[in-house]
Amino acid sequence: MRISNLTEFEKISLPKLENEMDLYLNSLNSNQILKESMRYSVDAGGKRIRPLLVLISAYSLGKKISKSDYQVAGSLELLHTYSLIHDDLPEMDNDELRRGKPTNHKKFGQAIAVLAGDGLLTTSFEWLSLTDIDNDKKIKLISQLALAAGPQGMVSGQTDDILGESKKYNLEELKHLHAGKTGALLRYACVAGGILSDASDNQLELLRKYGENFGLAFQIYDDLLDVIGDAKSLGKNVHKDEIENKNTYPILLGVQGTKEALVEVLNNTENLLKEMANNDIAIDLFEQLLDYFKVRK
Ligand code: IPE
Ligand code: IPE
Ligand code: MG
Ligand code: MG
Ligand code: MG
Repeated sequence: MRISNLTEFEKISLPKLENEMDLYLNSLNSNQILKESMRYSVDAGGKRIRPLLVLISAYSLGKKISKSDYQVAGSLELLHTYSLIHDDLPEMDNDELRRGKPTNHKKFGQAIAVLAGDGLLTTSFEWLSLTDIDNDKKIKLISQLALAAGPQGMVSGQTDDILGESKKYNLEELKHLHAGKTGALLRYACVAGGILSDASDNQLELLRKYGENFGLAFQIYDDLLDVIGDAKSLGKNVHKDEIENKNTYPILLGVQGTKEALVEVLNNTENLLKEMANNDIAIDLFEQLLDYFKVRK
């Protein structure tokens, strides 16, 4: 029977995802310290929202989730974890707490942290390339992931973010920044699920749009939590964006304006859900994912 409840879906799928990541990382024949450092940041946890989106996207088009789907989802989480390790480095955001633990460079030193990030990024692609799926799908996934993660996606957004520390962006520029640094991987997550489940071009386009919307909402909410959240529940230090002179929604629009902007994105996403439903995509889980953003009544 189809699972229509998000909590139940997570309860069944996340342990399997963790297991695949664990098996894969354990199998690596690397320097012990490097391996320990890579595992440290992956095992620290995190919301696993990107792999969850891969799985939900595939499942919502009727696919039965199999081992290779968990591997595709896991490879994205490894890549995301690399981006966090590098994001926290002193020359980037200079953070000391991540996923409730000292950041990778605080624990292992900067050189090993850079290498752990390099390792996770590279091995993510290796894992994807070894997965037992049709070659044509695999090549699509590899090229889409490279596009999303690289200098036309996340890395470009991270560059905008860093250069923005000495420049104030307008709202349009800020949206562009968020679409790159955060939107690109979340968009890939949805598209990847579509590729795995043989989505039509129309369905793929709708999944891409959902990922883009979700990505913008996700970074707006991340910016908001940096102002109104607490370190204990977030597992990372707060009020960092102001200290690092970042361009964020609350700094540009204030807390109330940020909440309103987020509600607008969520309302647009609700409208998109209707279109998805009209195109044979089950929207129940996608809809419940929006409850993550606690700004609506
Ligand atoms: C943090 O991502 C970086 C952003 C893009 C905002 P997450 O909020 O998904 O971090 P984890 O994976 O749960 O630790
Ligand atoms: C990070 O954005 C985006 C990436 C890691 C690509 P942030 O710098 O806002 O993320 P946090 O707040 O440190 O998690
Ligand atoms: Mg950053
Ligand atoms: Mg950061
Ligand atoms: Mg942030």
